Amino acid sequence: MTKEKQVIETSEAQIAVHWQEEEYFHPSPTFIGQANLTDESVFERFSLDNFPDYYTEYAELLTWYKYWDEVFDASDAPCWKWFKGGLLNASYNCIDRHLKKNKNKTAIHFVPELETEPIQHITYQELYVRVNEFAALLRDYAQLKRGDRATIHMPMSAELAISMLACARLGVIHSVVFGGFSASACADRVVDSNSRVLITMDAYYRAGKLLDHKIVDDEACQISAEQGQKIDKMLIWQRYQGKISTKGPLIEGRDCIINQKLKHYYGKRIEPEKMLSEEPLFLMYTSGTTGKPKGCQHGTGGYLSYVTAMSKYIQDIHPEDVYWCMADIGWITGHSFIVYGPLALCASTVIYEGVPTYPDAGRCWRIAQDLDVNIFHTAPTAIRALRKVGPDEPAKYNYNFKHMTTVGEPIEPEVWKWYQKEVGKGKAVIVDTWWQTETGGFLCSTVPGISPMKPGSAGRGVPGIHPVIYDEDGNVLPPGSGKAGNICIKNPWPGALQTVWGNRKRFVDTYYARYCKNPDSKDWRDWPYLAGDAAVEAADGYFRILGRIDDVINVSGHRLGTKEIESAALTVLEVAEAAVVPVAHEIKGKEPDLYVALKPGFQASDEIAQRINDAICNQIGKIAKCRKVWIVPDMPKTRSGKIMRRVLGAISNHGDVGNVMTLANPEIVEEIKKMVG
Ligand code: WTA
Repeated sequence: MTKEKQVIETSEAQIAVHWQEEEYFHPSPTFIGQANLTDESVFERFSLDNFPDYYTEYAELLTWYKYWDEVFDASDAPCWKWFKGGLLNASYNCIDRHLKKNKNKTAIHFVPELETEPIQHITYQELYVRVNEFAALLRDYAQLKRGDRATIHMPMSAELAISMLACARLGVIHSVVFGGFSASACADRVVDSNSRVLITMDAYYRAGKLLDHKIVDDEACQISAEQGQKIDKMLIWQRYQGKISTKGPLIEGRDCIINQKLKHYYGKRIEPEKMLSEEPLFLMYTSGTTGKPKGCQHGTGGYLSYVTAMSKYIQDIHPEDVYWCMADIGWITGHSFIVYGPLALCASTVIYEGVPTYPDAGRCWRIAQDLDVNIFHTAPTAIRALRKVGPDEPAKYNYNFKHMTTVGEPIEPEVWKWYQKEVGKGKAVIVDTWWQTETGGFLCSTVPGISPMKPGSAGRGVPGIHPVIYDEDGNVLPPGSGKAGNICIKNPWPGALQTVWGNRKRFVDTYYARYCKNPDSKDWRDWPYLAGDAAVEAADGYFRILGRIDDVINVSGHRLGTKEIESAALTVLEVAEAAVVPVAHEIKGKEPDLYVALKPGFQASDEIAQRINDAICNQIGKIAKCRKVWIVPDMPKTRSGKIMRRVLGAISNHGDVGNVMTLANPEIVEEIKKMVG
């Protein structure tokens, strides 16, 4: 194991400017009266003394073909196995088991971006039919079988959920790539997962425009073929059935319009594969410290048990609820809390195609009113944007939220309070859920029917999760110490990634090496999970998340690796060096700022800066676009030649650069400061 020290970059001064502790808000008696979890003894039942057996409570929320032989197997530490030997199918749990009582209930409300188009209400019966027929197509036409990988690069649509569930039915491991990602980002994921099938959609609406999506995937196929991974079959859903909405040519033998082909599978029913609990359900790629995104591998039984429990106890989903999570299904939040969790509980889940503020600031609240949404889930970025464009809009609409979630970034208390008062109309309970792609489901949050909320704090560990903060040397920083450290989870839990796809070493190094005292140990107590966030724990045990300790920037709640952006910039011929730093942004939370130095003989120009930003958008996607590309004469460097990103970050944020006299080239700091202003 390589033990690279990750230094906590959050100084005491930064914590001081971070918000202060706030007063508690209490859930209303009306909320508590109907909540799924109000029994405080849950924390005792889920104490470490009862680990790992307490997690059977979560697994019992599912329907199993065969119960597990062992709750938890640590023999291959830290690649834990959950509910080993148990057999189940995720698609069965999200669809079939609800049919007897609820086949006529809406499973998915699909809301097109254009308000002139009708909302589609897909019942559980209809979902069953569509998933079965598409699974038959995947099996018999695309030749996919248990254990194969399929990449899904699609916009927000009911067909995206149908594609995932059809894969799950066959035991095919899906790898969903966020629809806004570029051809090259999609190709990287196709190559890493060895997918030979790519599922896409011809087009979708975004901010009032019908965007051609299929042409992006034509390029993705070309790039992946160049890297040695050929897509044999591209399966294309149509945004408008019967009509082709792409300029891309249909490639004979490779491309297939799903709706046309489905006719051959009319009435087909596919027996769900009986999957072992520990067999993978999906891969979700996420950014890390190096340029290459890592494929977080999630298992079937552990993951599904965990997200179902979180949906029930933290999201407080009941079967009669209409639940709207505004995230994109292309991120983990959408996997866990649009598709798998709500459907496993037989709720109605809303999938909205477009931009929350299109065509105006009232759109979200009209959707909520029309569908009578009572649980609402979004990120601080969206809350800040909605507050900015229409602070008084929610009051104009007659909807009633009982429960709201914030996820993905720290939320400023002021923004939290607007969310509570205006969006929640002072009645809805709020959960601030802290978790990650890797963790499958929540780590810290208040239990809404039990614990009071505190603006700006996520809360304690959810039942079963035991967080701890360590300093650099592995000493525990106790509650109320006022010191920031690395937040870790002491115990394994079923929602955690099983490994990094094809790279166990990277898995161990990234999440476990930092605080593991004995790499040969088979005792879970020796393997605290390093989340990669800095945090402080207040005297009441509530955790406040301060931000990433590694080279990850959180832009609008989306994770971007600075190394990914830098390596995209370095593909531009003139660029010698590149460094990305996060800049505070009113709506997005953070935005990347890029500094580059050119190779000798090249002159800085707007044209080069533009080309660099274009390269980033092409290779990653528009979400990675930099606020500004600063072409500097030289980078501030240490005497050993390391680029001082911290100094650049201070300049971009108009902060204090500190003492720079120890740098190899201190004079450059003033020069860059003048440039940035
Ligand atoms: C950040 C998203 C503060 C954190 C589910 C984490 C948060 C990263 C919160 C994971 C929160 C997530 N408060 N920060 N409630 N939730 N984060 O993998 O830095 O896209 O490590 O998963 O988002 O981002 P990811």
